[in-house]
Amino acid sequence: MLSIKNLYKSYQDAEETRLILQDLSIEVAQGASISIQGESGSGKSTLLHLLATLDKPDSGELIVQSGEQRFNLLNLSESQADEYRKRQLGIIFQKYNLIDCISVYENVLLPAHLSQKLDPSYLQGLLSTLGIAVYKHKLPEQLSGGEQQRVAIARALAHQPQLVLADEPTGNLDHKNAAIVSRLLVDTCKQLNTTLVLVTHSEKVANLTDYQYRLVNGALQLSSSK
Ligand SMILES: Nc1ncnc2c1ncn2[C@@H]1O[C@H](COP(=O)(O)OP(=O)(O)OP(=O)(O)O)[C@@H](O)[C@H]1O
Ligand SMILES: [Mg+2]
Repeated sequence: MLSIKNLYKSYQDAEETRLILQDLSIEVAQGASISIQGESGSGKSTLLHLLATLDKPDSGELIVQSGEQRFNLLNLSESQADEYRKRQLGIIFQKYNLIDCISVYENVLLPAHLSQKLDPSYLQGLLSTLGIAVYKHKLPEQLSGGEQQRVAIARALAHQPQLVLADEPTGNLDHKNAAIVSRLLVDTCKQLNTTLVLVTHSEKVANLTDYQYRLVNGALQLSSSK
């Protein structure tokens, strides 16, 4: 479960303080998926950075809970934050950020190694589900954009995280591949009971998730749900 309460985040420029997130609250059940749309600069990536503990809010509450484990993201020590990022979190960016000099399989293995949650048969299943098992031994640069993004999805899910944050994951793909890859992402998270927060500019992609939100004036508004 993901719970955000009364979240505020501002950035300090040379001459002014700009409030980006303003009294933002939301609850997402474990295994549910939400999409977030919103104008450029509305604060979508800012929100994902806070959820990834890459930045700190001004105030509010951010809680990620899975079973017995409860992470209050504002009160984590450095080592707890490390643990949270390594074990609970998967992140997918618009640019795939794969490591070019190692194989597809080694890219996918990396987070599982770091979190010591290495399950070869699960990984094999994941690669098959995402249709990339045949590319296992290739280098990322030998794959198309759509295929590379599927590898990035496999990498984000390799350690069976509780929460996946995806920032415009299909923004670099053509319409056809964007539809295929985003459906794979949503369906695979559902199978794993992984909560998904998906930022997208595409209405079609947004409609794949259980709940659709818009980030407006610093807060999330529910626009529709399945
Ligand atoms: N580190 C930072 N320092 C100062 N201002 C920042 C910083 N990061 C983001 N901002 C500002 O905060 C606002 C929100 O940025 P953010 O990247 O979250 O927008 P976004 O909704 O993800 O936009 P896009 O759809 O273009 O990706 C922008 O006006 C941006 O300039
Ligand atoms: Mg952004």
